Amino acid sequence: MHVILNKKLVLARKAVISISDHGFKFGDAIYETIRTLDGKQWLLSEHLKRLRASAKVVGIRVPYTNAEFSRLIERLIKKNGYAESRVRITVTRGNNGFDFLTCKKPLVLIEATKLPRFKQSEGISVSVFHVERPAAGIKSTSMLPSILARRNPGEETLLVDRYGNITEGSFSNIFAVKGGTIITPKEGMLEGTTRNFVLKKYNKTKEASIPLKNIHKYDEIFLTSSTKGVIPVIKVDGKPINNGKIGELTKQIIKLLPYGTKKSHKKVKIR
Ligand SMILES: Cc1ncc(COP(=O)(O)O)c(C=O)c1O
Repeated sequence: MHVILNKKLVLARKAVISISDHGFKFGDAIYETIRTLDGKQWLLSEHLKRLRASAKVVGIRVPYTNAEFSRLIERLIKKNGYAESRVRITVTRGNNGFDFLTCKKPLVLIEATKLPRFKQSEGISVSVFHVERPAAGIKSTSMLPSILARRNPGEETLLVDRYGNITEGSFSNIFAVKGGTIITPKEGMLEGTTRNFVLKKYNKTKEASIPLKNIHKYDEIFLTSSTKGVIPVIKVDGKPINNGKIGELTKQIIKLLPYGTKKSHKKVKIR
């Protein structure tokens, strides 16, 4: 398995990062996780737009153009050989002492690992956790709130804010279905690329709060993320949603994504 560290293709086990790197020391880094589809980078420009927006908030310099990122990712995918890859870009402030204002030499790591197949047909059980992620709109590697949430039982944990509203999952966005409309929060969460794709593709949508106390009153619940796509939720905190079955509208939304029902996760010979 290879990675690209500061534009150099190296064996993952030989890649070296300084112990003074801000990403390692302070979680002073931003990242994106992108999936590939038959070897192609899916929604890359949306991910890079968000990476640059995150970078602006924390003052980290993203040193490559979109075309450079795309070429580097392409090279890595070919080297590692998975048509369905999980590509992660991490950009840290680099080795910057105790200086959080400048970013002299950012570090860029690109990884591409095999994307495990997610079984959409089964639906998942989730739990809830009361936490607000600071600066929730940016994708930062400072992940303590998410880590605490993920220590909960269940395949994903829904995050609940001080007002009792569900903002998102620990690695996903949430949608609730009521009378054919899909509802998703407007604020307090990461604006997911998959969330935005679904909102564009489906015509009855509403951006509004999802109160935890009403969660069992919705017709259906599903989550979205780049690597898993649409994730049907059949239980929240041990109690069934839609009688524990995947809803019909959720099944329709799954089909809106090009990888919605994809079965193959073949290793490609693209070297
Ligand atoms: C907290 C959080 N919300 C939402 C998402 C979904 O975003 P995307 O659809 O761009 O993967 C993620 C993805 O990692 C996430 O970490």
